[in-house]
Amino acid sequence: MTSVTPRPPAQDAPGPAAGPAQGPAARAGAAPDLSGKRALVTGGASGIGRACARVLAGAGARVVVADVDGEAARRAAEEIGGVPLLADLSDVDRLDGIAAGTDILVNNAGVQHVAPVHEFPPEVFARILRLMVEAPFRLVRDALPGMYERGWGRIVNISSVHGLRASPFKSAYVTAKHGIEGLSKVIALEGAAYGVTSNCVNPSYVRTPLVEGQIADQARAHGMAPDEVVERVMLEHSAVKRLIEPEEVAALVGYLCSPAASMVTGASLALDGGWTAH
Ligand SMILES: NC(=O)c1ccc[n+]([C@@H]2O[C@H](COP(=O)([O-])OP(=O)(O)OC[C@H]3O[C@@H](n4cnc5c(N)ncnc54)[C@H](O)[C@@H]3O)[C@@H](O)[C@H]2O)c1
Repeated sequence: MTSVTPRPPAQDAPGPAAGPAQGPAARAGAAPDLSGKRALVTGGASGIGRACARVLAGAGARVVVADVDGEAARRAAEEIGGVPLLADLSDVDRLDGIAAGTDILVNNAGVQHVAPVHEFPPEVFARILRLMVEAPFRLVRDALPGMYERGWGRIVNISSVHGLRASPFKSAYVTAKHGIEGLSKVIALEGAAYGVTSNCVNPSYVRTPLVEGQIADQARAHGMAPDEVVERVMLEHSAVKRLIEPEEVAALVGYLCSPAASMVTGASLALDGGWTAH
């Protein structure tokens, strides 16, 4: 086991470049000052990850945008003055060193596959678990020793309402999201003494390319108009009848990196329009 000396519990000092984020305004929820912090956002080239990368860069962090789509990662990184990294996160034996030295790790990359359990391709199931559970484990494992040494770290796992509730035909996705919930809580318990928090963010349907693809697929499968799919299928359990915008998820991620959130750890923060209130 790596030997590190525990620091006093989360002072939440933003590090060498500590700025105005220390005062009461920060505690009341102003944007955190993340200058000097290094962030890694997986799947940061699109949708929620891209919005998170923007928020973290806007707060002053140096952001690495890791994605299997190298060209999209390049564009996303260029937009925020960050660093693109071409990486297939499902190739878990090739992730060594990627996350070492990061202060903020957003485990976001994910995919969906829809099929009944008895027809679900085993290799797709295995790949989804590698991408959405094992890769986060490997990255966190790499990142923690440095975070422990520096006495500060933020792990944010983009889980889903499907980390808390099941839906039919999404066995790999629901299994993976429930898995990341458990991993996140263990990291929270181990990291607390070193100033490291770990949390899950649990959105229902967010307006991203991933969901736009699902809307089109379901419209075809059910012979419905796309609007009807959104209304009748996606928003069925949501009390607030609209899709979430990626920026709304990113704002919560920004909050989790702020001094105001230093007591928030091991939590699963639903952003689901009331779905899980049922
Ligand atoms: N969109 C939603 O409604 C919604 C709701 C809840 C949770 N989520 C979760 O949010 C995360 C992001 O989803 P999104 O909707 O922004 O999707 P998206 O498809 O817009 O973006 C996902 C990104 O991940 C990248 N990616 C996919 N496989 C990869 C791999 N093997 N290695 C590296 N990068 C890879 C893609 O290239 C893409 O840039 C996922 O974990 C998803 O499960 C999404």
